[in-house]
Amino acid sequence: MQYHRYGGPEVLSLDEAEEPHAGPGQVRIAVRAAGVTPADWYLRSGMLQELLPVRFPHIPGLDAAGVVDEVGEGVTGTAVGDAVYGLVPFLQLGGASAQYAVLEAWAPKPRSWSFEEAGGAAGNVETARRVLDFLQVAEGMTLLIEGAAGGVGTLTVQLARARGLTVIGTASEHNHAFLEQLGAVPVTYGPGLAERVAAVAPQGVDVVLDAAGKGSLADLVAIAGDPGRVVTVADLDGARHGVHVSRSGVGQAHGWAGLEEAAVLADQGRLTVPLHAVFPLKEAAAAHEASAGGHARGKIVLTVP
Ligand SMILES: NC(=O)c1ccc[n+]([C@@H]2O[C@H](COP(=O)([O-])OP(=O)(O)OC[C@H]3O[C@@H](n4cnc5c(N)ncnc54)[C@H](OP(=O)(O)O)[C@@H]3O)[C@@H](O)[C@H]2O)c1
Repeated sequence: MQYHRYGGPEVLSLDEAEEPHAGPGQVRIAVRAAGVTPADWYLRSGMLQELLPVRFPHIPGLDAAGVVDEVGEGVTGTAVGDAVYGLVPFLQLGGASAQYAVLEAWAPKPRSWSFEEAGGAAGNVETARRVLDFLQVAEGMTLLIEGAAGGVGTLTVQLARARGLTVIGTASEHNHAFLEQLGAVPVTYGPGLAERVAAVAPQGVDVVLDAAGKGSLADLVAIAGDPGRVVTVADLDGARHGVHVSRSGVGQAHGWAGLEEAAVLADQGRLTVPLHAVFPLKEAAAAHEASAGGHARGKIVLTVP
């Protein structure tokens, strides 16, 4: 699934593409499922072309699950035939929505996750882990997540719960029971948030993640009492509020930390990947549109026949 120019979902087309191969330290997988994230359609639309230009033709998709069919030089502990989930090379900005994809960070696919669930997990595991580490969370703390019902939110809620935190998550009311099942205390986002949070967390909030990017940083900083205790992954305006903007990137062993740990938690029944919708690869345009709707409950995933 690729596009040859920036534009709306209609620029996506199912074409023959050059087969990728595993370079040193990489594996290639026969993809069974690939995640769809807001970054896929931000990149496709051209809105990030100054910051992160893509090379055409571009195959979207930052994470995937499948079966290893090529092992690059220097890779140990992974063999052809292993079922894995992981992240495409960061600098490629895509490549997962295809029959074959190269991964630069991966872990065994948990037995308890389907390929669809595993295909949508790696990017959000990486993000959640990076944010929780940056915030130096510790058992007993209270974390507020703005936008807790989406891909990033659902994984961060559960990984924070596994570290012994109390989690308050914002979502529309129809997602409150869903958040409770994941272990979060739900509250509705929007005006009056501080009062609603105070009602459920009289002890106060220690740290905050903005996973929505809907302009609420001033309120979130007021709730935390200190911008240093707030992180956003979604609001490029963070610096104006003194808030750290956390981004994926090269270096710092991008992606590795957390994938195996998440797989272990999954097989202990402590980490699930709620799926909002599953589309066949040929319907990638519909999957991008569903993501752009902004109200995914968990992950959107593409399956590869
Ligand atoms: N920097 C990074 O490393 C990084 C990594 C991954 C994602 N991101 C960014 O993080 C953001 C979230 O990604 P995602 O994959 O989790 O998106 P997503 O799956 O599309 O989730 C969107 C969620 O936002 C909630 N939402 C909508 N309007 C809201 C509002 N006004 N206030 C609070 N929540 C609201 C929705 O909940 P309701 O349906 O209940 O309204 C929905 O669950 C995106 O901007 C994405 O680009 C950044």
